[in-house]
Amino acid sequence: MRNIDKETRSYHIEDFGEKIVINVCVGSACHLKGSYDVINEFKKYIPLLNLEKRVSLKGAFCLNNCTNAVSMKVNNLEVDRISPEEVKGFLECLAEVKKWNI
Ligand code: FES
Repeated sequence: MRNIDKETRSYHIEDFGEKIVINVCVGSACHLKGSYDVINEFKKYIPLLNLEKRVSLKGAFCLNNCTNAVSMKVNNLEVDRISPEEVKGFLECLAEVKKWNI
């Protein structure tokens, strides 16, 4: 499951739990597809949206989902084909579902 629907801009994040740990893959395939750009967008928007205490960002080695790079895990949920342009919307949707004031 992709967990992000580009057509509807919806994010299937109901299973993410309370404390959010985002692991962005920095393995070879994901690196080539721009994982560092994705990480930089998270680094930019996590503080801008005041999510530092609620969201942790980490790098991960290959998540065994290389054909769907850039891959990440949000808690135990796999999210694939994340692009830098989707990061802000993803965090905003996460905050909305969690009912966090940002
Ligand atoms: S390199 Fe990212 S999932 Fe394999």
